[in-house]
Formats: sequence, structure tokens, C-alpha cells
Amino acid sequence: MTNSDSNSRLLSVFQRKSVAPPPIWLMRQAGRYLPEYQQVREKAGSFWTMCMTPHLSAEVTLQPIRRFDFDAAIIFSDILVIPHVLGQNVRFEDRLGPVLEPMADISSLNHDTLYWRKKLQPIYEALEMVRSELPQSKALIGFAGAPWTLAAYMVEGRGTKDQSSARLRAYRRGEEFAELLELLSDAVAAHLIWQLEAGADVVQIFDSWAGGLPQAAFDDWVIAPTKHITKKVRQAYPDARIIGFPRQATQLGLEKYVLETKIDAISIDTATSLKWAVEKFGGDTVVQGNLDPVALIAGGEILNQAIDNILEASASTAFIFNLGHGILPSTPADNVAQLVARIREHKGAIS
Ligand code: CP3
Repeated sequence: MTNSDSNSRLLSVFQRKSVAPPPIWLMRQAGRYLPEYQQVREKAGSFWTMCMTPHLSAEVTLQPIRRFDFDAAIIFSDILVIPHVLGQNVRFEDRLGPVLEPMADISSLNHDTLYWRKKLQPIYEALEMVRSELPQSKALIGFAGAPWTLAAYMVEGRGTKDQSSARLRAYRRGEEFAELLELLSDAVAAHLIWQLEAGADVVQIFDSWAGGLPQAAFDDWVIAPTKHITKKVRQAYPDARIIGFPRQATQLGLEKYVLETKIDAISIDTATSLKWAVEKFGGDTVVQGNLDPVALIAGGEILNQAIDNILEASASTAFIFNLGHGILPSTPADNVAQLVARIREHKGAIS
């Protein structure tokens, strides 16, 4: 955390200031929709090699900043580096996405913090490289998966529709599952702290599968571990700026999540009303979101209208423009350029 607030539009927002036009970055802004990314990926041979080779990770992290002039770079990595350092085999298959070998029992996982740090070192080196090349006006974002989403991947071996086998495992072997969440909370907190140490200005916690849980499970598997993480991170960095993304949480769930985890910013998914979120959280908590990634593919007037609706709903609050979920591989890069231009044109027009 070396960057000061005053010269970065994104960091100003964390002082709960409304910035017009709002700062913008996009989840998954580095990726397959960019030809320059495809080029690096082809040369590297695999996604994992890119994640674990500092100069390659740094290069693809910077690509979308050079092309679109976003207000923040997010380090190119993946949430599944944590299961990997805990000793689970993780592979990325072109059409299937990530595939993890079935998790043996928890005692077989690696509990050694020094080992985690050594294995994750390439990510911290990549962060240092990016920070040294990134202008001070641009923020650098680190991230990690949240314990529930990671645990679901570890139990199920891949992404599924409803995480029902992870839920079943949690119900049937509650003690073991609680232990897994605890181990993951410690690993995620450590990883976020090390990223802040390496130069990240902000960190985001991705709980992609926070939706569809019974309320008690949401409390125990989503809120409690995240609360543990924010507490640990702030013990190391009292001023750490933390964004939470409990995707598809209910409105009641979001309210409780914000109140209890004490994150600084809440990332709103596509389906949640931004107007509601601004009314509920605006002022105290930074709001981030929530353009439909499919509207970004559609482009044209549909996209303009969707952008304007968001700018209108978020005017005069501390707000970060983003998508409601990650950018999709078929997104035309020109539409991303249109998005950035449209937002920047709004300087002073609203507020
Ligand atoms: O935002 C960024 O640009 C930073 C990089 C980033 C990636 N993954 C790169 C990536 C981030 C923040 C993630 C987070 C992530 N990874 C999440 C949480 C966010 C979400 O989308 O819900 C999840 C669930 C994962 C797990 C994961 N990794 C999946 C499901 C996939 C396959 C998806 C796909 O589109 O094929 C990955 C692979 C992955 N992670 C890619 C990228 C750019 C595609 C790899 C490639 O083939 O080049």
C-alpha cells in the first residue's frame, strides 16, 4: 500500500468522495477478448504459466490499462491459486474451465504458511513489477476468492450450477467443513496481506457462489469467514481498502454482509438494483457495479442506455463503475472503448 489517495481517482472514492465521472475498471479486464492477451497466452502455452511467471502476469495486467486507460489494474492471477498452494492439483481445460482433483481429507492439505508464501511469491513479484510501471494515478487491485467459493471448488472439483454436493458435504460433515473454511480464511487473509505488502492499493474478495444459500448457511459460510479475513487484514494494515463481492446474495444478505464484514466497498451483481444499493449503502460504503456483461457485448444504443442508467443511479455517491460479473470472452474490444468514452464524456453532466 504505497499509493496515496489524492492523486488517484479510484482511491479518492475510498475516502467516500463522489468522483465525476466515476473511476472505472472491469472484472476480468485482462483476458481472451483482447488479441494482445491471446498472443501472450499462445506463447506462454498455458494459463497457469501466465499466472505464475511474473513478467507475463505483469504484461497482461497492464494490457487493458494501455488500451482503455482504466483507472485501476487488477493483477492477473486466479482465485484457484489458494487450493493449489494447499496441495490440491488444479488444471485449466480449454472448454471445461478449471478442474481440481477430488479433495482428500483436510489433514492432507498443506497448513504451512511459509510454504504458501514461497509458492505464491511469483504473484507478489508480478504486483511489484506492475506497481513500478503503473502511473501513480492508477490504482492496483489484488484479490482472492472467498472461503465458501473456494471450498465449493475444492469439494466439487469444478464449477457447478448449484454447489449442491458442497452443501451436502457441509451438512453431513459440519465439523470438517468448518475446519476447511477456517484454513481457507487464514490462507486468504495471508494472501491479501502479502499482496498489500507487494504494492496492491485495494483488494477484492470474490464470493462468486454466495447466491442460493439458506440464510443460516450464508451467515456461517459467507459472512463469518469474510469477517475473519477483514479483521486479520486490518490487524496488519489498519487502512486496507477492501471490496467484497458476494455475488447473487439477496438484499437482506447484502445488508448483513456489509454491516458485519465491515468491507469498504460492496460490488453489486447484475441482478441487484443499483438504485437500491446506493440508497442503502451510499455514503458509508463505496458501491461498485453493475453493468450487464451481455449489454457490453450488445454494444450500440443498448449499451449507452445501460451506462446512462448506472450513471444516473450512482450520481453523487462514492461509486466505482464496473460490471455485474466478469467480462465475457466474446466481448468486442470496441464496445469496451465505447464504454470508457461514454463514462468520461459525462464529466460534470451529472451530479
Ligand atoms: O479480473 C481480472 O482481469 C484478473 C484476473 C482474474 C481471472 N480470474 C483470470 C482468469 C480474476 C479476478 C479471476 C477470478 C476468478 N477465477 C473467479 C471469481 C470471479 C468470477 O468470475 O466469478 C472465479 C470463479 C475463477 C475460477 C476460474 N478461472 C474460472 C471459472 C475460469 C474459467 C472461465 C473461463 O472464462 O474460461 C478461470 C480461468 C481464467 N481466470 C481465465 C482468466 C482470464 C481464462 C483463462 C484462459 O483460458 O485464458
